[in-house]
Amino acid sequence: MRVFYTVASALVALALAGCAGGTYGSGNAGQSLAGTALYNPAHLPAGKMGALVREGYDIITQTHKFAKPYVVSQMECSSCHITGGTVPRGGYLRIAGHFPQWNGRSHRAIALQDRIAECFLYSMNGKPPAYDSRTMIAVVAYINWISRGQKTFSPIDPAVRIARIKPPAPPNVSRGATIYAAQCSMCHQASGAGIPGQFPALWGATSFNKGAGMAKVAMMAGFVRYNMPLGKAGTLSDQEAYDVAAFVESHKRPAFDKKAAITFSPEPASFF
Ligand code: HEC
Ligand code: HEC
Repeated sequence: MRVFYTVASALVALALAGCAGGTYGSGNAGQSLAGTALYNPAHLPAGKMGALVREGYDIITQTHKFAKPYVVSQMECSSCHITGGTVPRGGYLRIAGHFPQWNGRSHRAIALQDRIAECFLYSMNGKPPAYDSRTMIAVVAYINWISRGQKTFSPIDPAVRIARIKPPAPPNVSRGATIYAAQCSMCHQASGAGIPGQFPALWGATSFNKGAGMAKVAMMAGFVRYNMPLGKAGTLSDQEAYDVAAFVESHKRPAFDKKAAITFSPEPASFF
């Protein structure tokens, strides 16, 4: 027993050392993750599966063009899941192996499709595609592809997700307004509506609804801290990220429409 225990501890130590060596994911020790190289069209599988993964990438980066019936807000999945979710701190790098997972919000175990549906409902302020639709299966195929090599049931690595940060002092909306005017409004506009097709809306009728994770000040602060201002990511302090997030969230946005939760009838199998 003692011998077994020692060997197990040595393996754990090795796994931890692997993480410290510049890889992401404690469950993926030793597997290097080269950011955007995770999606390289030249490395896709041949044939129909490669085409499906590519379709998923197109849906995530150009959601309005390729999944229009399901989207109301003026944003693409990649407005929040930067570069199609292939960068750490951007949303969903290497997550396929974490599903099914326990979901506190709905108090049940959910599949990847359920989680994708939530982002359609809240973040896109739209309606989820049916689980057996081509749109949903393409998005799942893409997320699985950029998660390839990941171990299933591996622990969630905080370094790949949107950062959880704490403000040194309570967030201050008027300080946030000053930061917004100086560092955000040139892209997202003073109105917060952004410019369709270029800069996503941060508040107002064309933004994500109140049910979205990004509608929480803490989540937006964590996102902004490491991803914004675009081109100068990482330059804001934790406090500044909280202040500007509190300013953004002090504006109106759409309420979540419970009726929107109706799923579409499945598309026929012959569609494939
Ligand atoms: C307004 C921003 C926003 C948009 C747009 C958005 N999401 Fe998300 N998404 C989030 C946030 C915030 C989370 C939670 C991330 C976390 O907890 O670290 C999330 C989580 C997820 C997750 C689970 C990630 C995990 O770590 O478990 C998936 C899958 C996902 N989104 C898919 C999508 C898809 C597909 C779309 C487009 C249809 C989309 N999202 C659009 C903000 C967004
Ligand atoms: C140079 C232009 C630019 C600046 C400056 C900028 N952003 Fe962004 N922002 C973008 C773009 C473009 C995206 C969509 C992500 C992408 O396409 O890479 C985005 C996405 C976002 C998102 C997630 C999507 C959404 O609509 O909610 C938030 C939140 C956000 N920015 C907040 C801010 C804040 C706060 C600042 C100021 C501290 C800021 N941005 C400065 C261009 C900019």
